Amino acid sequence: MKLINQSDFLLDSRKQEDLQRFAEGLNREQLLWASGYLTGFGKSAPAQKIRGNTGEKITILFGTETGNAKRLAEVLATKAQAVGVQTNVQDMLVYGRAKLRRDRIIVIIVSTHGDGEPPDSARTLLASLTAGPVPELHDSRFAVLALGDASYPRFCQAGKAFDVALASAGAERLLPRVDCDVDYEEDAICWMEQVLGTLTTGKSSPAAPLPAPVPKQGYSSHATFPAVLLDKVNLSGRGSDREVWHLELDLDGSGLHYAPGDIASVTPSNPPQLVEELLDRLELDHKALVRTRQGEMPLVEALAAHYEITRITWPFLERYARLSDAKALQSAIAGRDVNGLDTWTDGREVIDVVGQYPVKGLSAQSFADCLRPLPPRRYSIASSLLAVPGEVHLTVAAIRYSSHGRERLGVASTFLADRVAIGRPVPIFIEPNAEFRLPEDSGQAMIMIGAGTGVAPFRSFLQEREALGAAGNNWFFFGDRHFSTDFLYQREWLRWLKDGHLTRLDVAFSRDQERKIYVQDRLRERACDVFAWLEEGAAVYVCGAEAMGRAVQQSLVDIVQSAGRTQVQAEEYILELKQTGRYHRDVY
Ligand SMILES: Cc1cc2nc3c(=O)[nH]c(=O)nc-3n(C[C@H](O)[C@H](O)[C@H](O)COP(=O)(O)OP(=O)(O)OC[C@H]3O[C@@H](n4cnc5c(N)ncnc54)[C@H](O)[C@@H]3O)c2cc1C
Ligand SMILES: Cc1cc2nc3c(=O)[nH]c(=O)nc-3n(C[C@H](O)[C@H](O)[C@H](O)COP(=O)(O)O)c2cc1C
Repeated sequence: MKLINQSDFLLDSRKQEDLQRFAEGLNREQLLWASGYLTGFGKSAPAQKIRGNTGEKITILFGTETGNAKRLAEVLATKAQAVGVQTNVQDMLVYGRAKLRRDRIIVIIVSTHGDGEPPDSARTLLASLTAGPVPELHDSRFAVLALGDASYPRFCQAGKAFDVALASAGAERLLPRVDCDVDYEEDAICWMEQVLGTLTTGKSSPAAPLPAPVPKQGYSSHATFPAVLLDKVNLSGRGSDREVWHLELDLDGSGLHYAPGDIASVTPSNPPQLVEELLDRLELDHKALVRTRQGEMPLVEALAAHYEITRITWPFLERYARLSDAKALQSAIAGRDVNGLDTWTDGREVIDVVGQYPVKGLSAQSFADCLRPLPPRRYSIASSLLAVPGEVHLTVAAIRYSSHGRERLGVASTFLADRVAIGRPVPIFIEPNAEFRLPEDSGQAMIMIGAGTGVAPFRSFLQEREALGAAGNNWFFFGDRHFSTDFLYQREWLRWLKDGHLTRLDVAFSRDQERKIYVQDRLRERACDVFAWLEEGAAVYVCGAEAMGRAVQQSLVDIVQSAGRTQVQAEEYILELKQTGRYHRDVY
């Protein structure tokens, strides 16, 4: 890797060699850290001008589904303002392609959803860069921060697509794209420093290594609050093939607060029996000390609490393949045979990789260095602080399945269902979800569509509206498998219906009749009334599995079409609902 080759560098040859030697010994993460650190050394000069573009704004475009990209766009804008750079932060949803030609410095922060899809809000902009008459952007410069999850085979696909599309349109890259895994904060902050460092000739604040991640109400994935488990109840009736738990957690002493629609993130620990089996298979000493982000500790402790040991990620495979002499694994990685590996990894976990491709003489540290930190799992909050002050409620489906001859457990869901006893703490923090808020006007009507655990935020919404005495009409579509065993929070919905807090309730129990019926079918059956509610200004909320979210969106388009619009008009109608903040989705 040749890092230094520009003739106009201000370093003399000895310093260049020193820097080259230093950089060659670093891995990707260390390089990112070091570049952010070095950027900080130039922070004392007062000049704040964008090189060659004095006074020009940077346009920060975010494409988000669950709010992370938006939050980061806002952080970047704050940082830019602090060094005198003007910004214009825009949701891709409302950013027209015509503006692309006008804006000279474009910074993209975009996540990936579905199976490598852009967030809904980013689709139109991406399509305008890749299909039809593509705008010429020879006078523009750009940078891309891609958010993703390395356990998905199409990691950061949307960010990659924007990066390629902008370069193909002739725009100049300010710096290489950065792809972030679920623990994105440090990489994102480091990338921001690099973007601003590239754009400015100097900075105002003193030199500093990476700033700490933005704290969320004082608690974050790095510093969770131990919320004591007050109660848990299995909501699924006897005979159900699902296992959905209602959990009540105590926020007393935390100062934490949340709004309906927010997310509670749980930092779980791994199943102890899986940790034991993994250690046995690796033939590693439980007590061997390893260095982790949380400090030095015995391997058994690190594997239990700090590393992801279930989901297989590409970075894990790449690092492990480097240690392994297994040719098949190495060549699949080298060729980035995503499809082949995707098929192989389906239903498999880290324990299967180390079982199939053992490494002779593997050390505890080198194995730990292959793994990614255990990411927190997100859960839609199912309660309102107005109804249950000092508590947060969750609705969690326990994941248990069998594959390739092993019984598998979802890490966080079974941590909550099996391994945390009442009276014991659950490490949590709250993530605000500005994309999924009750209407500001408590008189505005709502259509809520939720399947399975997608019921959770709507329980929170109804609790809040009941406590506020809100006048707005509420219509709930709920779907699951069987009426007798899977009608989650049935008594509460029926009470709200009786009291009049819930105006209408429609249910779809898919497996109670021969022909499967889902919420999207019920919506179509009620097309006339749904359209009338939309015309009268109702807001729409959808929560649950991603496939359901897509099917519901299609139903909404069909409903508008059945009211006499063309398909294009119907799609525009739904897009306008989104743009005007009347269509919200929380799908996972
Ligand atoms: C914004 C948001 C809100 C959410 N809200 C909720 C909520 O309210 N309630 C809720 O229960 N969940 C919710 N989730 C999902 C939740 O965050 C977790 O992903 C879920 O609980 C699984 O986590 P886990 O650690 O138990 O499983 P993990 O250990 O992460 O395992 C899950 C993985 O196991 C694999 N898998 C699962 N089943 C099978 C199978 N049958 N065959 C093969 N492989 C399989 C899949 O690869 C899957 O990704 C939400 C997610 C998001 C992003
Ligand atoms: C249902 C779902 C599907 C996802 N699919 C992908 C994917 O295919 N590739 C990827 O890299 N990340 C994927 N992710 C991870 C998200 O991109 C990641 O969580 C990101 O931080 C979300 O940012 P946002 O809140 O701005 O949307 C997925 C996340 C969810 C919830």
